[in-house]
Formats: sequence, C-alpha cells, structure tokens
Amino acid sequence: MQLRAGARVLRGGRSAARSWRAPACSECLLRGKALDDRIRQSRASYHSTRSRSSAWAAAVSVAGNIVSNAITRATKGDLPTVDPLRIVAKEMKFLTGNIRKLLGSGHPSLDRAAKYYTQSEGKHVRPLIVLLMSRATSLCPKAPQRQEATAKASAGIDNSISPLSILADTNPSSPLSSASLSPLTDASEQDAATASSDIDILPSQRRLAEITELIHTASLLHDDVIDHSISRRGAPSANLEFGNKMAVLAGDFLLGRASVALARLRHAEVIELLATVIANLVEGEFMQLKNTARDEANPVWSEEALSYYLQKTYLKTASLISKSCRAAALLGGADAATVDAAYAYGKNLGLAFQLVDDMLDYTRSEKELGKPAGADLELGLATAPLLFAWKTIPELGALVGRKFEGEGDVERARFLVMQSDGIEQTRALAQDYAQKAIDAITPFPDSDAKDGLIEMAVKTLQRRK
Ligand code: FPP
Ligand code: MG
Repeated sequence: MQLRAGARVLRGGRSAARSWRAPACSECLLRGKALDDRIRQSRASYHSTRSRSSAWAAAVSVAGNIVSNAITRATKGDLPTVDPLRIVAKEMKFLTGNIRKLLGSGHPSLDRAAKYYTQSEGKHVRPLIVLLMSRATSLCPKAPQRQEATAKASAGIDNSISPLSILADTNPSSPLSSASLSPLTDASEQDAATASSDIDILPSQRRLAEITELIHTASLLHDDVIDHSISRRGAPSANLEFGNKMAVLAGDFLLGRASVALARLRHAEVIELLATVIANLVEGEFMQLKNTARDEANPVWSEEALSYYLQKTYLKTASLISKSCRAAALLGGADAATVDAAYAYGKNLGLAFQLVDDMLDYTRSEKELGKPAGADLELGLATAPLLFAWKTIPELGALVGRKFEGEGDVERARFLVMQSDGIEQTRALAQDYAQKAIDAITPFPDSDAKDGLIEMAVKTLQRRK
C-alpha cells in the first residue's frame, strides 16, 4: 500500500505513530505491543505468499500457511484482545432506534414489515465497521480539498433538500393530510444521540452506518424471498411472516428511505459509492443464479470457477463493506491514501466474512446459525468448500451442472465435501483475506478504533454464526 506524501509519523511505522499521540498508559502499550506482533507476523506471512498469478493459485497457496498464520495464533487466545463493540458502544446503542425512525411509515402494515428485522438482534457488523473506521480514520491525515464537503455532509443530515410539502405530497389532489401518511423526520425530532456526539465520529458518519444497515436489511428481505427462507435471526423470516409481496415491498421501502438519507448527506461521491453498492448487490445475486460463467450441464473443474465465485462474493457481500468503509473515510475528510486503505480493509474483510459464512453453512446447525443450515446446496449453490473439493473429486462436476437437483445429490455432495479438505482450504483463504485487511490499515495511527478493526478481522474468522 502507498504511504501518503508528507506523513512522516506514519512512514516511521507504528512506534513513530505512537509518538505522535499523547503518552499511553502501560496497559495500552502492552496491548499495543501484542497487536504490533500480530500485525508484523501477519505481514511477514502475507508477503511470503502474495503475488500469485491466479485466484486459485493464491487460494491454494494459503492453505499450507494455517499453522504459521498470525491470526491463527491470535485466535488461540494468547494475545490480549479489545472488544470492538465497546469502542463505539455509545453510537451502537442508538443505532436501532435511529434506523426505526428512518423507517417510520403512516401505513401500519408497511411500518410493521419494514421494521420487522430491526426487532431481532442482528449482528450489526456493517455499522460497527463503519463506526470503527470513522473513528480510526479521524486520526489520519486530511485532504484540504475535502473539508468543505465534510462540513456540509454533517450539517444537514436531517434536513430535507426539497421542500417538505413536496416530499410529503402523498396525493397532491387529496384532501387528506399528507403528513399523517408520510412522517418524514423534521429537525425537531432529532434525538439526543444525533444532536450531540464525540467529535471523532461525525453525524454524517453515524448516518452512513445506519444507511449501510438499511441497505443490508433490504437485501436480506429480498434474499429471503429468493431463497425461500423460513427463518432469520432466530425468528420466522419476513416472507414467512408477511408473505413474499410484502417482504419485497418492505425491502424496496428500506431502499427508498436509505436513498433519502443518503441524499441528505449532500456528498456526491458518497452517494455514488452507495448507489453502486445497491447495483452490485443485484449483480452479485444475478451471478449467483449460475455456478459457473458458462453454466454448462457437466462442467470440468477449472480455476475460472473460483474466480467467478470470488467475483460474485465481492459483489454480493464485500462491496457494501468496502465502499462504506471508503465512504466513512471520505466523510471524515481523509486524504487519498487513507481512503484507499479503508477501502482495501473493507474489501478483504468482506471477502473473508462471506467465505466464513459459506463455511459455516456446512459446519453449523440451524439452531446455532439462527437460520437454515446447509441451505447452499439445497439452493443449488457451489460455494468455496465445494469448489475446493471439486478439484480433487471430478465426480462433483455433474452435480454442480445440475445444481444438486438429482435424487441424493445434496447428500452426496455434502458427503464428498466433508471427506475433502474443502472446509480447511476455505478457512485458509478467509484467513488470508483477513490478514490483508489488517495489512491495509497498518499505517493508521494507533488507536482503540484501529485495534477494534484488527479485532473485527480476527473475530470474522472465529465467528460461529
Ligand atoms: C445473503 O446471502 C444476501 C446478500 C448478501 C445479498 C442479497 C442481494 C439481493 C437479494 C439483491 C437485491 C438487493 C437489494 C439491496 C434489495 P445468503 O443467502 O448467502 O445469506 P443468508 O444465509 O444469510 O441468507
Ligand atoms: Mg439467503
């Protein structure tokens, strides 16, 4: 990664970066040293395995690295850890309430369906990452030309751009009061959490965190319809509770409200990024309709299948995390190197996150996941564990080609994957991406938030649901 011009404190590495900050307590220094070790080890391991020519070669090359990998060592528990949630606890406390405010509708059934997934305890991974990234990048060098947009973005997040009478003109020719049907937030409704906060997380960045969760939740509402899901977050899925039509419409409504909130950031580059995410989610979902680019009936294993899967994975999962991390840095007025580093962190973490998700689909039960387990094969999907297994078990090709629809296909495929090293290879690839995420933010000045981001990469690999 490029170091920013003129950032001498960062060029000197973490020890120089530390001298840039106020003197730390001995406990912090101890923790900092442990994280230093973690990062140094992960960088050494990363550099010894990088620069492979293909996604497949890179994926295979990391498999042998499991034991020496720094993250594996960290997960053994011998290094002190931070709790990422504690670092932004104040902001996270108000997250769900603020999201529910953004979702208010005067139509009772729409209101219920739209807020349904905010009732159950989601993991809120995306907003957590956005808030940590906002705080971590607040210490990074700024781009002078971005300061005007930064100030503007935080000034008017609750203020409409168009007149409210236009935005609430439900039916301009109706005698009914439009306000009763469309309770758009007005400035007096701002809650205390929105009005006052620490200066290192700006109002615009907190709103961005809410927007990422809205877009993610919208995609889940649609995804559960597409996947015929019956449960989500340990409760009946929205499609089961309200039916497909209402679930799809509720998802659309979330996207609408997310778009309004996005526009009110008044930051064209951020709007462009997040609008692209929405398109990327759909592109990823379209790619997932096929297991290989050519969708042959009896495909033979090739590296292209993994490249196709990784591209789909980026679009479906990592794009939201990478572009929202980038947007957080932009909203904070960070310089170009920081913006790129935030993006690289999000991209790699997002890929690791989905690889682990695809692995858990094979290894965990429905009770543990809070959603159906083993769903991918049932849905005809060949994810990483199977793609790795397929290389050494050609028999899987025919099953991939017919999307596991033949009698006994799902059971046979699962058996073969579990016999193979597909799970271990998937874990190793996730580990490699998590390391790259940590590498990307190494030049950031030391802070609890930076430690929290590193911990998120470690936790991504440890997660059980
Ligand atoms: C979960 O995948 C789904 C996604 C990460 C994205 C789904 C995207 C769409 C349905 C496109 C439409 C997008 C919007 C914004 C409306 P999964 O099925 O692998 O995970 P799961 O097991 O949690 O269901
Ligand atoms: Mg699904």
